[in-house]
Amino acid sequence: MKEIAISELKINPFDLIGKDWMLVTAGNEQRGYNTMTASWGHLGSIWGHHGGAATAVIYVRPQRYTKEFVDRENTFTLCFFDEAYHKALGYLGSHSGRDGDKVAHVGMTPVFADDTTYFAEAKLVLVCRKLYQAPLKEEYFLDHSIVEDCYPNRDFHDLYIASIEKVLIAE
Ligand SMILES: Cc1cc2nc3c(=O)[nH]c(=O)nc-3n(C[C@H](O)[C@H](O)[C@H](O)COP(=O)(O)O)c2cc1C
Repeated sequence: MKEIAISELKINPFDLIGKDWMLVTAGNEQRGYNTMTASWGHLGSIWGHHGGAATAVIYVRPQRYTKEFVDRENTFTLCFFDEAYHKALGYLGSHSGRDGDKVAHVGMTPVFADDTTYFAEAKLVLVCRKLYQAPLKEEYFLDHSIVEDCYPNRDFHDLYIASIEKVLIAE
């Protein structure tokens, strides 16, 4: 993988996250890591000067094993893949790391670097540093149909805003 400047990134975040999906991964070789598939999130900017710092937002439900790692670490990665890995992402998004080595099952290769973890098979990796975390709250929904549709068990996501510290692409 090689590092590029964020200004070199030409992407459509709607397809990249919403349609193609991503892996949210946190942890490292020493303390252990876990990963899960996510299709909810945002890429944009907030809080910096002159246009804002490049940031990513992710949403993680309380019951995800990955949440323990995201909460524990200062950083996490977002990994994006070619279509050939879509089935693998489906598996990683329907099995928990609590129940076995799901990464080995799909045959992906963890790369331990920058005190975090990403995958050698990714076409794009964003290394992110957490800036802000907050739970979504029922009383703040302006459209309550979302609560009924997405949270029948009231298991509201935590959202995390993170600065994008590094952009890596496959060579
Ligand atoms: C396409 C897809 C998108 C998903 N998006 C999210 C998401 O944005 N946030 C979330 O908390 N879970 C999401 N999930 C569910 C987790 O990936 C799933 O529960 C996973 O098994 C959690 O693994 P873990 O327990 O090892 O963390 C998604 C699953 C799929 C298949």
